[in-house]
Amino acid sequence: MTSHVKPLTLTGTVAVVTGASSGIGEATARQFAELGATVVLAARRIDRLTQLAKELGNKALAVEVDVADANAVQSLFDQVMSAYGRVDTLVNNAGVMLIGPAHMAPLDEWKQMVDVNVMGVLNCTKIALPYLVEAAKSAPRNVADIVNVSSVAGRKAQPGSAVYAATKFAVGAFSDGIRQELASQHVRVTLVEPGFTDTELASHINPVILEKMQAAMAQMPRMTAHEVADSISFAVTRPAGVSISEILIRPTEQER
Ligand SMILES: NC(=O)c1ccc[n+]([C@@H]2O[C@H](COP(=O)([O-])OP(=O)(O)OC[C@H]3O[C@@H](n4cnc5c(N)ncnc54)[C@H](OP(=O)(O)O)[C@@H]3O)[C@@H](O)[C@H]2O)c1
Repeated sequence: MTSHVKPLTLTGTVAVVTGASSGIGEATARQFAELGATVVLAARRIDRLTQLAKELGNKALAVEVDVADANAVQSLFDQVMSAYGRVDTLVNNAGVMLIGPAHMAPLDEWKQMVDVNVMGVLNCTKIALPYLVEAAKSAPRNVADIVNVSSVAGRKAQPGSAVYAATKFAVGAFSDGIRQELASQHVRVTLVEPGFTDTELASHINPVILEKMQAAMAQMPRMTAHEVADSISFAVTRPAGVSISEILIRPTEQER
């Protein structure tokens, strides 16, 4: 008897990855395709998605979507169902981090973080749910997956990122509640909480605030997007009877 646990295949499955136009989402889409999944690439920058879909060959579909817009998300899943007829995996990864002290923050930046980081996750989950439940009843895996990308900020709030943290705490609470609701239907829910990762995320921060943070940020240890994507791939390839509920992943030298 071997002590090795055989990873679950993604061959024959369909995965929707939001925020696949850069960073962790793009890296996840690439890994899923390598592991055999057909990947639906969802984000707003369709040019980037189309380029990535080309690279992934006939196993990818690029769809322009703003996850904050429930009608657009409905149209995304209509397209997925008409192209492939199933959804096995949903990675709610799209997010924005518009940080800075509260007294300097425009209210519309806070609203954008709530709309994308919270409503985006809810819109995609709600609309994908019946398809995930259906996929979990059938071959090849008899299980389906939702992965929600939160942050270390979803566990500990800090000055300057109170609203970003609030959105990620919300993702954590939603994940744990929905995980319990879906357990008996074999839809697994995994919360992934990365620490500092080298992506485009900080590039949208107000330039005045970014300049003040630049020296501190340059010193910070960071992971690659592929290293974080690896934890997402790990979660969705566990045997059908195993559910990884939470992954907190930091660069080795990151203390908090
Ligand atoms: N980088 C880090 O240090 C870090 C740490 C912890 C957690 N995270 C989380 O990781 C996730 C991915 O971020 P990242 O670091 O990979 O940054 P990124 O490279 O900026 O990726 C963010 C992705 O979200 C998409 N997006 C933003 N607004 C959207 C909207 N309204 N509709 C659809 N897609 C939207 C972006 O695509 P478009 O602009 O093309 O729409 C992009 O593909 C986020 O949830 C972030 O909070 C990152």
